[in-house]
Amino acid sequence: MSTTTTRFAGLDPGEFGLPGEQELAALAAGYPAAEYPRYSATDFRPEPTEFFGFKTGNEPYSLPAFFTPTVSPFNPAAPARPPAQAAGREALPRVGDTPLSAIRADFPILSETVEGHPLIWLDNSATTQRPRQVIDRISRYYEHENSNVHRGAHTLADRSTDAYEKARATVASFIGAPSPDNIIWVRGATEGLNLAAQAYVRPLLRAGDEIILTHLEHHANIVPWQIIAQETGAVLRVAPVDDSGQIIVSEYLKLFNRKTRFVSAAHVSNALGTIAPIEELISVAHARGVRICVDGAQSASHLPIDVAALDADFFVFSGHKIYGPTGIGALYGKADALEEAAPYQGGGNMIEDVSFERTLYRQAPAKFEAGTGNIADAVGLGAALDYVSSIGLAGIAAYEHELLSQGTRELAKIPGLRLVGTAAQKTSVLSFVLNGVSLEQAAKGLNSRGIAVRAGHHCAQPILRRFGLEGTVRPSVAFYNTPGEIEALARAVRELAGSR
Ligand code: ALA
Repeated sequence: MSTTTTRFAGLDPGEFGLPGEQELAALAAGYPAAEYPRYSATDFRPEPTEFFGFKTGNEPYSLPAFFTPTVSPFNPAAPARPPAQAAGREALPRVGDTPLSAIRADFPILSETVEGHPLIWLDNSATTQRPRQVIDRISRYYEHENSNVHRGAHTLADRSTDAYEKARATVASFIGAPSPDNIIWVRGATEGLNLAAQAYVRPLLRAGDEIILTHLEHHANIVPWQIIAQETGAVLRVAPVDDSGQIIVSEYLKLFNRKTRFVSAAHVSNALGTIAPIEELISVAHARGVRICVDGAQSASHLPIDVAALDADFFVFSGHKIYGPTGIGALYGKADALEEAAPYQGGGNMIEDVSFERTLYRQAPAKFEAGTGNIADAVGLGAALDYVSSIGLAGIAAYEHELLSQGTRELAKIPGLRLVGTAAQKTSVLSFVLNGVSLEQAAKGLNSRGIAVRAGHHCAQPILRRFGLEGTVRPSVAFYNTPGEIEALARAVRELAGSR
């Protein structure tokens, strides 16, 4: 990346000892100006090179057809480019219409230093960072609203119930659910998958029945199904992937038979970044009268989700992977599926009436929410989704797509580096292994330069073993990452490769 100078109508403020536009924005964002990545749009024009049989500089990865990347900080032809940039003046990138500097200023932790370097957080698939809006919303809840919900005849009970149910409505609208009643609060995607397995699928199963998964699943979308299969004598069938890490739909089709009772599939792979052909997986299942659960743990923060348009029967996601708190997430279920499902856990809140002889249950979602929920964090998740919506997922997807393309181009050039997961449709994840450098050495070497990544099996051992591996180094991007950070990652990996 070449360094360029900010110019205003032919003048360089630096010549007069003044900060330029980018330096001002960087300072406003609390980012050390000297460290702030400065670039021009042309720095990221692709230089096509051959990579795994396709031109890497020619948009190696694509987004689903519904998505049109109109806003791209790297694409001088993008229609949404502000006039100043089109005229050749540099500007910080925007994510949709929002300046990246403003976004970064919302995330206090991004100003941390690690080992004497500015923190570069590229462990977003493990967990994302929280914006001030989420942190403040949780504080406000505890300072002004804290009470149990649905239970008290006093003002704070009303405030907390309003905040809790408003957050549920926010989740419903964020994923396109028809009603807040379709949304069940859970601890995260893992609990959502366990709930769907135990409450809906287990009562359907007889010995010899089959559940279809895909090879992309992380452990949270394998083990709950294994548990109910072992308890009932049911069998798991697994749709294979090709060498790029994409599901082979023709093989998936062949797994269906009259014993198939349910499908559960990742929308996006946490280990490879593959975007599964989820519309096809759903329509194939429905054509055979089988319901399907979509694991959105890795998709909800990267792609617009519309569960009604997808016609998903169940959909799960975690708050902490979408800039919200840990310990909170949501399970979406179609109304008739939730009606059919058995209660998950017993206790207060989920009952209509209890005697020692029998219990009458409430309707969904209360039927599945025994006990006091994680009220404050549900409210915090609502704030996180409002924040993401204020930027817009279409703009987020476009921006992250550019970061992924840049990272792919730069990492692919490094001798001895093997990218793992090269599907045509990908998001966020840049898994790789480096000849002669262990996962631990790579993670430590990156950390010593301030760069946080996950290295290991990513709780997805079957898919990594499909590629003959026990683990990878996994940088994963979010919308607050910068092109300069991707450049810093590539530089650090080049150094590690060179130090072998
Ligand atoms: N599932 C999380 C990850 O991919 C923890 O890192």
